[in-house]
Amino acid sequence: MTRRQTVDEADLTRRLDAMSLKEKVTLLTGGDAWTLTPVVAAGLASLALSDGPAGPRGTAFGDAVTPSLLFPSPTSLSAAWDEETAYEAGRLMGLKARQMGIHVLLTPTVNLHRSPLGGRHFESYSEDPLLTARTAVGFVKGVQSTGVAATVKHFVGNDSETERTTYDARIDEKTLRETYLPPFEAAVKEAGAWMVMAAYNAVNGTTMTENEKLLNGLLKEEWGFDGVVVSDWQATGSTEASALAGLDLVMPGPDGPWGTALLAAVEDGRVTEAVIDDKVRRVLRLAARVGALDGVDAPEAAPVPGDVRSRIRELAVRGSVLLRNDGLLPLRPDALRKVALIGPNAVRFAAQGGGSAHVIPERVVTPLEGLRRALGDGVEITVHQGAFPHARLLPLEGGTATDPVTGEPGVRLEYRSADGTVLSEEHKAPAANWFPLLLADEVAELFVRTRLMLRESGVHRLSVVGPGHITLHVPGHAPQTLEQLQEDDDIVSLALRPPAHTFTFPAGRGETEILVRFRPQRHLPYPITLLGLGYDTPRGTDEEELDAAVAAAAAADTVILMVGSDADTETESVDRATLALRGRQNELVERVCAANPRTAVVVNAGAPFLLPWADRPAALLWSWFPGQEGGDAIADVLTGAEPGGRLPTTFPAAEADVPVLSTRPVDGTLEYSEADLIGYRAYAARDTTPLFPFGHGLSYTTWDYQDFVVTGDMERGLSIRVTLRNTGTRAGREVVQAYLDPAGDEPHRLIGFAAVEAAASEAVIATITVPARALTVWSAAGPVPRSGPHRLRVGRSAADLRLAAAVPRAS
Ligand code: BGC
Repeated sequence: MTRRQTVDEADLTRRLDAMSLKEKVTLLTGGDAWTLTPVVAAGLASLALSDGPAGPRGTAFGDAVTPSLLFPSPTSLSAAWDEETAYEAGRLMGLKARQMGIHVLLTPTVNLHRSPLGGRHFESYSEDPLLTARTAVGFVKGVQSTGVAATVKHFVGNDSETERTTYDARIDEKTLRETYLPPFEAAVKEAGAWMVMAAYNAVNGTTMTENEKLLNGLLKEEWGFDGVVVSDWQATGSTEASALAGLDLVMPGPDGPWGTALLAAVEDGRVTEAVIDDKVRRVLRLAARVGALDGVDAPEAAPVPGDVRSRIRELAVRGSVLLRNDGLLPLRPDALRKVALIGPNAVRFAAQGGGSAHVIPERVVTPLEGLRRALGDGVEITVHQGAFPHARLLPLEGGTATDPVTGEPGVRLEYRSADGTVLSEEHKAPAANWFPLLLADEVAELFVRTRLMLRESGVHRLSVVGPGHITLHVPGHAPQTLEQLQEDDDIVSLALRPPAHTFTFPAGRGETEILVRFRPQRHLPYPITLLGLGYDTPRGTDEEELDAAVAAAAAADTVILMVGSDADTETESVDRATLALRGRQNELVERVCAANPRTAVVVNAGAPFLLPWADRPAALLWSWFPGQEGGDAIADVLTGAEPGGRLPTTFPAAEADVPVLSTRPVDGTLEYSEADLIGYRAYAARDTTPLFPFGHGLSYTTWDYQDFVVTGDMERGLSIRVTLRNTGTRAGREVVQAYLDPAGDEPHRLIGFAAVEAAASEAVIATITVPARALTVWSAAGPVPRSGPHRLRVGRSAADLRLAAAVPRAS
C-alpha cells in the first residue's frame, strides 16, 4: 500500500536548469515560518509544512486558526502494537492535511523513551526500537498514501528536552545502530519517508544540522534517502558547515544563516553549485510527490471520511490500556443508578499534551458527555473535582468574557503610546491560550478591557499570561500590580512556557468590567510578544473540595475517578522534574477508594506517573491523552469495548528503580553510558520489578497460550506461529509478543509481535515474522547474526512469557 510514486528525474533537471542561483538559494530557507517560496520559473508552488504528531496543526496562529482534527497521543497509537492501526491514523491525518492545503506533516517523532521524565515522551512512541519502528512504518505509509509527506524526527538523540538546543548526546556506534537509529532506518528504507528533520542537539561532538557523518554519510549514502533533510526550527547555526553536511532546508525563514551568506559561499567557491543543486532537486522531488509541481499530476486524494470522528474514537479505544481489573469493569449501565465522576481530569479533561504538537480541534468530547451517552438517562452522574493540580488557569471563555464595546465574546485591546494616546484598538476573540502580538515600536502599553460574567459569588481567580508589568483594576478594589519577565532568549520557551500570575478578587454574582494594563517587556531578541487571560470560578478550600468529593464517592454506587496530567505538565522544551502526580491527587485516590470500593481509576496522561495506590481501586485504566473523541472512547471502554492497548513503555514502581532517570546534561554532555539498557531490558538486567511491565495490558477476556512452532533460523529470519485460545465468554483482542533470549547474560529483547482477535472459546494462530536483520548484532563490519544458542519466549508482556523454545540452528 506504500505510495511508490515514480518521479521523472529528467523533468526535475529541466526545472532546476530554469532556476537562477538566487532562486535556488532562496528556496532553501523558508519563505516564512511554515511555507517555502514558490518558484514560477520551475512551476513550483509554495510548499506548506505543518506540525502533526497529534493531528495537522495548520500554518496559522491566533485568530486565524482553523480547527483541525485532534488524534490520540502517539503513546496511545503505539499502545495498539499494530502497524495497521498506525497506518489508519497516518492515513486519516494525511487526508485532513490534504484538505487543509498542507504538503508536509512534521511527524512522526521516533525518538525513544529513554527517561520517563522526557518532556516529549507523550509525543514519541516507545522505549523499544522495534515497536517504535513498526509503528512509524505503518504511520509514515499511511500519511504518504494520501500524497502528503511525513517527516521523521528528530534525527537523532533528541530523547529529552533539557538544554535540547545545545547538549551533546554521547552515544557509541553500537548503541546508535541497534537502539536509536532503527526507527529512523525503517521509516526511511521501508516506509520511504520523504522528509527527515535534523535535531537541535549534537551527537558525539557535532550538532545534528552539521553532522556530515550522520546526514550525508549514513542517511543519504548508506540508507539511500532521496528526500529532504529539514532543520528543526531555528536549529541551524552555520552556513557552510550545515550546507556541506547534508542539510537541505533551513526552517523557519525568511531570515537565517543561509540566504545571502550561502549565496556568497557559492560565489566564492566555498560551497559548489552542485551541492545547492542536489538540495533543490530534493525539494523539487518532494514537490512532485506531494502535487506541488505544475504539470505533474497531484496524487489522488480521497476526502476526509464522513465518519472520521468515530474512527478517531476507535483509535483511542485501541490504545487504552486496562492495567488492573478486579471484575468491576466492564460496567453494566442497567445495574447502575448513581455514578460519581470525580477528579481534576474529569473536569479539566486533557485530550492532548503541549508544545508544537498542540492542535486546536473543533470540539473535544468530555468524559462527562461520553459517560452520559454511554450510561443513559436512567443513571444520575455527580461531578466533583476534588483536587486542583493545575499550574495554569483555563483561558477566558466566550460565555464569561465580552468585549465592552462590541458585545462580542472576548476582549477589547487598546494599543497606547508612552503619553497615553490610544494608537489603535481592536476586538480579540477568546484565544486558546494567548494572543501572539507583533507590536509597533511606539506601543508602550496595552489596555485590555473585558466584561466578566461572574456566575457565583466568592473569590474569583484571574490570571495574566505574558512578560511585562501588569496592573489589574477591578471595580471596588484597589489595583493590584506585578512585574513578570521572560528570563531567557528562546522564543520557543516564550511560546511554550510564558510567565503567568494569578490574581484573586472577592466578588458577588453579576457582571463586572475589569481592566488589565499591560506594559510589555521590550528588547526581547524577537519582535513578538504574547498576552493571555485565564479565569477560574470560586471554590472551597482544598480540604472542603476533597471532603465533598469523598462524600460524593460514598453516596454513589460506582465511582469513576480521573486523575493525571495536562498540557502544561507534559510538553515540549521542558522535561518533568518528577514522576509524581501533581498536587493532592494521590491523597484524593486513597480517600475515594477507601470511601467506595467500587472505584475505577482512569489515568489521563501521556507518559508514566508513579501510582503508589495502584492496588487500591477495583480497576485501573490508562487512557493516555486520547484526543478529541476521548470522552466517548473512555466511556466505551468502561462499558465494555475491548481495551486494545498494551504498554509501550515500562511503568516504574519508584523513581529510584528507573534505569535512566536524569535528563540533565553534565557540562553540556548527555552520556548514554547505559548503552542499550533502557526500559524493560534494564529492569531485567537489574532484576527490578516495575509496577507494570512493558507490553502489559488486560483484555476483557482471558487467553490460553497453547503452543508455538518456530521455523527458519538466525541467518534467514524466523516465522513464529503461536496457537492461543480465547478462554473467556466474550470476543477479544490479544497482542502476542515474542522475545529473544540471546546467549550469555544479555537480557531478552522484543523481536516481533502480532495482534489477533478471537470470539469466545475460539482458538486462533498468531503469526510473527522476524526478518534476519532483527536478529543481528552490530559489529565493526556491520550487522552480523548473533552467535547462539538462543531461546525464544512468547507471551503477554516482557514479564509474562508463557511459552519457550530453542531457536533452530542454521542448517
Ligand atoms: C520542534 C519540532 C517542530 C518545530 C516546528 C520545534 O520546536 O522541536 O518538533 O516540528 O518546532 O513547530
